[in-house]
Amino acid sequence: MYMKVLEAAPERYDRGMRTLSRGRIDALYERMAQFVARPGRTVLDIGTGTGGVALACARLGARVIAIDVNAGMLSIARARAAELQLQTNVQFREIGMAEVEDYLGPASVDAMTACLVFSEMSPEMQRYALKVIASRLKPGGRLVIADEGLPETLWARWRYRFRRAAALLITFLQTLNWTRPIDVRNLENMCVQQGLGIRIQERLQPNFTLLVLEC
Ligand SMILES: C[S@@+](CC[C@H](N)C(=O)[O-])C[C@H]1O[C@@H](n2cnc3c(N)ncnc32)[C@H](O)[C@@H]1O
Repeated sequence: MYMKVLEAAPERYDRGMRTLSRGRIDALYERMAQFVARPGRTVLDIGTGTGGVALACARLGARVIAIDVNAGMLSIARARAAELQLQTNVQFREIGMAEVEDYLGPASVDAMTACLVFSEMSPEMQRYALKVIASRLKPGGRLVIADEGLPETLWARWRYRFRRAAALLITFLQTLNWTRPIDVRNLENMCVQQGLGIRIQERLQPNFTLLVLEC
């Protein structure tokens, strides 16, 4: 929810995320990497931010292409990669999801990851992103999404929206931007329409979902 505020100050992003997630964010990055990263595989990390998932994948021996539209976040990610001596395993590129179609050839990537990125896309952009992802993954390739998602029941959704309203206003006033939790069922339907089958769906918390999909 406060992600946009943290992204506006990339040097504070990692500390902020650890506080917001009560220390659980690094374990999530590792978990996502374990679903996809192996030596010899190429992984595209979409919206890499400060490189949490990308570096976890590189540590497991994958070749990683890590993309983001925020130059400040990428510069922190590059510094972290150098510190961990993983810079040869990760290419950081300042491009957005909209450019992936031109940047990568069809069926050229073994796996993709997107942590806290779909909640920054409009439903139209999500649909487009999934179409491009499905076309750029190799047959049998995996996509792992982890994101803030709306609770399942209508009542819980309204309660969640109500609780979120103040934070949303603060975020908008500070950044003129906001995130919207994904509608998990809608996203799953969009994935299936693009030929991405759901292998794992877990609610890590009532409002946080992990999806593992396969081409
Ligand atoms: C909340 S941060 C998450 C960063 C990282 N994945 C993590 O989990 O720590 C969202 C990131 O996605 C990036 N982003 C948002 N929309 C994007 C798009 N369409 N293409 C590429 N990056 C995008 C933002 O610039 C930001 O760095």
